[in-house]
Amino acid sequence: MTKTFQIKSFGCQMNVYDGERMAELLGAEGMVAAAPGADADVVVLNTCHIREKAAEKAYSEVGRLRRDDGSRPVIALAGCVAQAEGAEAKRRSKAIDLVVGPQAYHRLPQLLREVEAGARPVDTDLPPLDKFAALPARRRAGISAFLSVQEGCDKFCTYCVVPYTRGAEVSRPLGDLLIEAEQLVAGGTRELTLLGQNVNAWEDGSETLATLIRRLATLQGLERIRYTTSHPINMADDLIAAHRDVPELMPYLHLPVQAGSDRILKAMNRHHSADDYLRTLDRVRAARPDIAISGDFIVGFPGESDEDFEATLSIVRTVGYASAFTFKYSARPGTPAATMDGQLPEAVKDERLQRLQALVAEQSRAFNLSKVGAETRILIDRVGRKPGQMIGKSPWLQSVFVDSDARIGEMVDVRLTAALPNSLAGEVVTDSQEAA
Ligand code: 5AD
Ligand code: SF4
Repeated sequence: MTKTFQIKSFGCQMNVYDGERMAELLGAEGMVAAAPGADADVVVLNTCHIREKAAEKAYSEVGRLRRDDGSRPVIALAGCVAQAEGAEAKRRSKAIDLVVGPQAYHRLPQLLREVEAGARPVDTDLPPLDKFAALPARRRAGISAFLSVQEGCDKFCTYCVVPYTRGAEVSRPLGDLLIEAEQLVAGGTRELTLLGQNVNAWEDGSETLATLIRRLATLQGLERIRYTTSHPINMADDLIAAHRDVPELMPYLHLPVQAGSDRILKAMNRHHSADDYLRTLDRVRAARPDIAISGDFIVGFPGESDEDFEATLSIVRTVGYASAFTFKYSARPGTPAATMDGQLPEAVKDERLQRLQALVAEQSRAFNLSKVGAETRILIDRVGRKPGQMIGKSPWLQSVFVDSDARIGEMVDVRLTAALPNSLAGEVVTDSQEAA
């Protein structure tokens, strides 16, 4: 009988991408995805290790896979918790059959065969790019697809586990990326989001992320290009110029600053000051005035004073974010910040997080409101709940609800008519000449 699998991905978009590739890999082995809600023979938990209790959450997920009759599927622990825990995972949970890290999952079929033969293999090697060559070609693709172009991180921000779980910064070769992008577009993809922990550090010889974007923009059928996540110190002039010159490159930039105080930025080992960041954004906005800026913030980093936190609120006010992700600092074992003096009580972190979130919500509402009345194009990516309603993405990554008979994957010209809490309403514009 055909074996079924289920892949549960947690955390970042890189994990979503890895999860899709694992699904393709198991599909190529003759396995099929289990129907939603149905039992699977093999479950892959593609875990995230970025914040607290990540490992505990992963183990409780494992526990939940036990079936009513006491049996359980073959359980593979994958992703960053797998990388961080390694063989320890097998000791902590008898139910885990195999452990596979983010750079080794191309060996999943082999590891499953070892499980069948009675072993409990652990593969947390970090060979930088081997997996890509070993994975099957891309076929069926979503309207909006991820393409992993760069992995790992050499920046060593003092709070972050990524350099330890994803290894050193490596860029995939240009040729491989062009082939994968062509396969995705041939499979129906209209929008590509280039992924990397430091995506704007991507390079291949003299090629940069900007030249990669310019090449991808020439692919017939590819309408939109995005990239995430960027580091402020890699925001090169040519990439900024691409925001001015390449129409396919969407006016959206996720550029985390993490904090507004220079003292904290230094303790975080960010390699930039608040002012450096603001000047970078000035350059970006000079090239593309309407660009939506998004960011990540950590509140309650060790030693963060009230004054330091005020500096974070102040930089948020200066920038005016379209959206932002806010996190309470969480000590990650093995990172330098975990043993720094001045670890703050939860209550302080909670209070700061609330204040920051309120400010970000206000800004994001203001950003959405500023677009009401604008004419633009959306890429339809979902069917709405109401009859005749479709949902698409604006260039600024907002969800837009519209009554339209357009199908998923089509571009529709709309006028934005109202700002809702987390989205916009729009109406179809028939005279497409007017749309920007
Ligand atoms: N505590 C809180 N937030 C963290 N991030 C990374 N490490 C930590 C940590 N130890 C946040 C950063 C990063 C995002 C992906 O997660 O803001 O940009
Ligand atoms: Fe982590 Fe900093 Fe690297 Fe981002 S840049 S992955 S926050 S170490």
